[in-house]
Amino acid sequence: MDSVSISEVSKKYIYKGKAHLVVDEISFDIRPGEIFGLLGVNGAGKTTTIKMISGLTIPDSGTVRIFGLDPSNSKTQKLIGTILEGNRNLYWQLTALENLVYFGVLKGMSIAAARKKGAALMEEFQFDQYKDLLVQNMSRGMQQKLAIKVALMHEPKVLILDEPTLGLDVPTKDFFSRFISDIAKNMGISILLTSHDLEFVGRTSNSFGVIQNGKLVKYGKMQELNAWIDDSGYRVILADELGGDEAKQLEKFGGKVIQENHANFLVSKEHLYQFLDAVKPANIINIKSLANDLEELLLNTRLEK
Ligand SMILES: Nc1ncnc2c1ncn2[C@@H]1O[C@H](COP(=O)(O)OP(=O)(O)OP(=O)(O)O)[C@@H](O)[C@H]1O
Ligand SMILES: [Mg+2]
Repeated sequence: MDSVSISEVSKKYIYKGKAHLVVDEISFDIRPGEIFGLLGVNGAGKTTTIKMISGLTIPDSGTVRIFGLDPSNSKTQKLIGTILEGNRNLYWQLTALENLVYFGVLKGMSIAAARKKGAALMEEFQFDQYKDLLVQNMSRGMQQKLAIKVALMHEPKVLILDEPTLGLDVPTKDFFSRFISDIAKNMGISILLTSHDLEFVGRTSNSFGVIQNGKLVKYGKMQELNAWIDDSGYRVILADELGGDEAKQLEKFGGKVIQENHANFLVSKEHLYQFLDAVKPANIINIKSLANDLEELLLNTRLEK
């Protein structure tokens, strides 16, 4: 059985008297041990989707099932661990260890079991020296690490992480990527994560989805994401506009030519050097790979083959 299964889920919000459809008939499944990375630009609908899967928001239509159960019922809640954006699952006036114990007990653990598990997690994450530090006195990265521990306290079967890499430094991000891969593989936990860090999602997840304006526009195995990324070309920006004929001539090297204050080209991978030869001696102010730029990828600026 899939651990997470959502089918044709939609959600509208009313803003200034008008209904806005922010999640539009999204369907996907996550199996035990699978890490699913959800990508999308700001406002695409990722957090809203995550909240519906966590049982924090009720969909207008469609179904969400966690091991076949409704996510909002209390039995299902014990199977889920969630971290929303911005460390909201911590109490700032409590210490690190107090937070772990408090939230463990809230999820149904005994105080003794919560203390034991809390201490073990502190050690595993090399956080022991900070166990008595108040959350309000922690750096953002430390708070994020603690939030992850809080979500793991009751040993959930489904872990939902909304932008878990926010505020993490490179070594911590590496540790975290390995850590979630390990718990997915060794404990069969299903992980749903969102991130604006394409590189992190690429190396950590086994499957991915891309949300655009509330719709799931891509969904597949990680290899497909890599193929999608590899297909991309370059954006080349010249200092000055070109004459219309000149610009038209260059269109054969790629997709669009956008002339604003600068001449802005999307150039296919195989034509890059020909293109650069053709624009000589124009002043180039920027060449950037579309593949490494999530915003570019998600705005669908990639070149069609
Ligand atoms: N409670 C709410 N009331 C009204 N509109 C909302 C509410 N929550 C979210 N929205 C709107 O729904 C849309 C999707 O928001 P959501 O938070 O799901 O995006 P997101 O993909 O998580 O973006 P980000 O990358 O910025 O976190 C946005 O336009 C947002 O303004
Ligand atoms: Mg969000």
